[in-house]
Amino acid sequence: MTQANNKTIQALQWTGNVLKVLDQRQLPETLVYDDYRDAAGVMEAIAGMRVRGAPAIGIAAAYGVALSVILHYAEDPAHWRQKVAADIDRLATSRPTAVNLFWALAEMKTLLTQPLTDPPAAFIARAEKIHADDIAANIKMGELGADLLTGAKGVMTHCNTGTLATGGYGTALGVIRSACQRQPVNVYAGETRPWLQGARLTVWELAQDGIPVTLLADSAAAWLMKSGAIDWVIVGADRIAANGDTANKIGTYSLAVLARQHGVKVMVVAPTSTIDWAIENGSRIEIEQRNQNELLPACYIKKGSLVSAWNPVFDITPAELISAIVTERGVVLNPAEQGMRGLQNDI
Ligand code: MRU
Repeated sequence: MTQANNKTIQALQWTGNVLKVLDQRQLPETLVYDDYRDAAGVMEAIAGMRVRGAPAIGIAAAYGVALSVILHYAEDPAHWRQKVAADIDRLATSRPTAVNLFWALAEMKTLLTQPLTDPPAAFIARAEKIHADDIAANIKMGELGADLLTGAKGVMTHCNTGTLATGGYGTALGVIRSACQRQPVNVYAGETRPWLQGARLTVWELAQDGIPVTLLADSAAAWLMKSGAIDWVIVGADRIAANGDTANKIGTYSLAVLARQHGVKVMVVAPTSTIDWAIENGSRIEIEQRNQNELLPACYIKKGSLVSAWNPVFDITPAELISAIVTERGVVLNPAEQGMRGLQNDI
């Protein structure tokens, strides 16, 4: 494995006219970046999970739009806007649940209606700002979340919400990073079947940063909580409804139910770009179903097999099971009581 640490690892690197995407399917054994020069390639990188994690998906899509402008403006300065609009529509089909994708595409789309003297430069600048803002938000959330962890002995996280899933630093993993700088905290990471974001990505990221972490099978979570080892479950989000209902990696809902049973608190950490103000509750969030072959043992992947798989990759945790939602604009305690709208006025 190539040696590197979190200060140098980035899921996405922008060179000015190429988007370099770290292929997360190959981690932690192989560290390789693929180069993308058009929106179609970026769409494939998102759909194929080379890049994943809600904020990173949004940032990649923004750079995908910038690449589209570079290409089409050079080819056809008279009609580039229609071609870029079509690429934006295509990028929007790459994955359905993370609202950061649609948020970032909407941000980029606003430029299409504006008079621009240098369109490529304007779109590149907007994508770079989305990327930089995400890192700044994560650092802020890291501090706010760590404030809530004062005195905590242990935390458990799920999926990967770190540098690999964002512009940098991470959401839930950013809080864990910040907390570990202040005090010793025992960090537990669930494997996160079936794609193993916890086992392959989270423990690797933390180890690169010198933060000790204990991996556990997802099915061991209840017993861990029963042991009294953890005070908080800390997770990210792919979409938060206005009432605080939260879509996140499959298994988050199970952890929240278990946490309630065992008196463990649940913290969701996400930038406000993850809040979908258009939906009042989680019932309208589309849950991505991925191919059953991602789950099935190879011997069952054949015509006429009697074994199929159900592979929803997100679930929805109701707000009443969440103790705190941490955003860069502030912390919402007990979101079931007040919802998220108090944060909207600042946006
Ligand atoms: O399918 P993935 O790996 O894209 O799912 C990622 C998650 O569910 C994360 O928890 C979420 O996007 C927050 S990442 C900061």
